Amino acid sequence: MPLLGLGTWQARGRAAVEAVRTALDVGYRHVDTATMYGNEREVGRAVADSGVPRKDVFVTTKLPQGNAGRERETLEESLAALGVDRVDLWLIHWPPGGRARPDVWERLLELQGEGLARAVGVSNYSLAQLDELLAATGRAPAVNQIEWSPSLFDPRIVDGHRERGVQLEGYSPLRTVNLRDPRLTRIADAHGVTPAQVVLRWHLEHRVVAIPKSTNAARIAENAAIFDFELTPDEVQSLDALGRG
Ligand code: A2P
Repeated sequence: MPLLGLGTWQARGRAAVEAVRTALDVGYRHVDTATMYGNEREVGRAVADSGVPRKDVFVTTKLPQGNAGRERETLEESLAALGVDRVDLWLIHWPPGGRARPDVWERLLELQGEGLARAVGVSNYSLAQLDELLAATGRAPAVNQIEWSPSLFDPRIVDGHRERGVQLEGYSPLRTVNLRDPRLTRIADAHGVTPAQVVLRWHLEHRVVAIPKSTNAARIAENAAIFDFELTPDEVQSLDALGRG
């Protein structure tokens, strides 16, 4: 799973097609969508028209919590909208009704077994809810996608996912942090990069998947230019401290 992906929440219509196309052109190989975003058709079209082979693009979509009980139908609709035979990752978007719902998880595993999703996981689950799924089925989600940024950093969450073998994927990496925080701008200046690039690089240093959203071509490119600098352990620690309290 590529550690950097394009988030597409709130990207609709032409803007969604163009954002995904720009992202693929500048090197992204991972796109995150969801049934709830109403843009699977646009995402699928952009991938198909990009010239990048389908097998090289990691595509995630998600089951709305209100569609619990209609898993097969929902996934089939997603595949049709995306124009693909299977997705790379399919997530339960939110714990349905706030509960872990191992029965729903069981059906995701079944559909994965049929080859309709290469991997399955969850989003917005707590560690306790991950444990419920594991206890009921013997299978942990491959991924838990949660809101994440330096301001939300909690080592117990990082370690908890690692111990369970669940890949932590963060959403809203930029919106949840103050990009003008002097502790962040100082590090950005030291590397000659932007605060947003520092935040995204911080995810990589922790091996946490980041899916920044943008429909602006320059910012889509900016957010991907994070592979030619590294943060020192001290810098990572000082960013971790933004999450204290
Ligand atoms: P825009 O689409 O105009 O670029 P998040 O992924 O954390 O939810 O953040 C998404 C928001 O952050 C969007 O409003 C997006 O606006 C903005 N954004 C994306 N990339 C950057 C960036 N590099 N610097 C500042 N703002 C950004």
